[in-house]
Amino acid sequence: MASTSEFKFNLDGIKIRRCSIEDIAGVISVNRRTLPENYSTSLFLAMLRNFGSIFFVAVDLQNDEVIGYCMNKLEFDAKSFFERNRKVTKGHVFSIGVLPDYRRRGIASALMVVSMRHMFKLNASEVFLEVRVSNIPAQNLYHKLGFEVVARVANYYADGEDAYVMAIPRSKVDSLVEELYLRLKKINALEIYEDL
Ligand code: ACO
Ligand code: ZN
Repeated sequence: MASTSEFKFNLDGIKIRRCSIEDIAGVISVNRRTLPENYSTSLFLAMLRNFGSIFFVAVDLQNDEVIGYCMNKLEFDAKSFFERNRKVTKGHVFSIGVLPDYRRRGIASALMVVSMRHMFKLNASEVFLEVRVSNIPAQNLYHKLGFEVVARVANYYADGEDAYVMAIPRSKVDSLVEELYLRLKKINALEIYEDL
């Protein structure tokens, strides 16, 4: 895990807010341009309907375009990665992407921080995700936030590639997430109504 000072946010002209129905076409477009896992429109709509309070977009204020997204879900009564024989609520980072022209400015980090903060608020005690074993940029992003590989799933992706499952317990990352969330608020990068 990195220290908070290692996170640099260059978010001038970028806002992070909850995804709304009007953003879904933009999210699908970013998904198609950034990842080989392209879900159906109905999957995106179902995620918005069921987990809209933890579905976030990054928007370029210049043209009001979605340039990044982080789509999450909660899994209830799931087997803990960290505590034997315990059932917990897990936050699942289902899909995240940032358009190539906007990368390396801290946008994905900000989307992850905001997502984790709100999944914790909804009682998640750990957060996990799957990532291609070849996807070093994304693995670096998750490592920087303290995630560790907890499993490898053979043949997880449609093209046969394996996935790493990476996870982190809330207790380990809570203070980092809180501090970075406050920083994002302070630099005015968030447009998020809290009590949703
Ligand atoms: N090479 C190495 N490390 C990288 C790279 C890269 N190209 N890009 C990001 N990182 C790591 C670095 O540690 C970086 O910190 P640093 O800039 O201080 O060195 C850290 O990630 C945070 O970078 P951000 O600027 O916050 O990330 P960015 O906004 O550029 O987005 C992302 C990263 C989402 C992985 C982007 O490259 C992308 O959209 N890739 C294609 C889609 C993808 O792979 N999505 C994740 C799939 S797994 C899942 O969805 C659960
Ligand atoms: Zn997943």
